[in-house]
Amino acid sequence: MQSRLAHRRELLRYAGITGVTLLLPSTVACVRGGSSTPPADPEPGDPLAPSADPEPDGLPLVRPADWDPISFNRERGRAGAIPPEYMAKIDGPDGVAQHLGKHLPFLPEGPLAPSGTLALMWGDPALGYARHPNAAATADDPIGHWYDWIRIRRAFDGPAEERESHFSAWPRGGEEDDGHYAAQRGTDPADDDGRNTVYLAVLPSDVQPGEWVRIHAHCLTHGEYVDFLRVPA
Ligand SMILES: [Fe+2]
Repeated sequence: MQSRLAHRRELLRYAGITGVTLLLPSTVACVRGGSSTPPADPEPGDPLAPSADPEPDGLPLVRPADWDPISFNRERGRAGAIPPEYMAKIDGPDGVAQHLGKHLPFLPEGPLAPSGTLALMWGDPALGYARHPNAAATADDPIGHWYDWIRIRRAFDGPAEERESHFSAWPRGGEEDDGHYAAQRGTDPADDDGRNTVYLAVLPSDVQPGEWVRIHAHCLTHGEYVDFLRVPA
């Protein structure tokens, strides 16, 4: 508990430095995993603004031609989307493969997602990234380690629905959750320390097969990450 309080103090101190607003105490889970509040307005040419017309939260509406999820998430993480102590790991040896890349979404092979959903995993081994584990909350770690929300928006430079799916627990969610889990292999999402978990997130109704979507998701422990994927045709 002491270390958790120290961590909380560190985040508050960091928020004070950067001007990032943290929601306390009801969203302590989000605090541990980075703020949901967008960073300050980006400067022209800043990696936070790869699109000519980003949303107010600094996220590009469409996938920029020179999209680089590593540099984008690294800069956004430094601005408050990723806890400072985890940024140190991302900036450390093998930090992209073991930490940042581990949190980027990819489309897994395996069972087809039910209609109206997108199957997602984190940390594509085909790109050399470590696969993201998942862990339930315990007495020693009352927060746990999984993605508690996933927002999907059609990558479109105009009005579009952004659909947020919720995952209140792992490896089985709550009755009210609109996000669900599946297993990449076999039947147990918890196999391989949770690396077998497939997230089934709800697709916005305006997304057609084959279109690009923006994925904006939150790991309880390690913060927010943004990337673009093409929905299977
Ligand atoms: Fe994580």
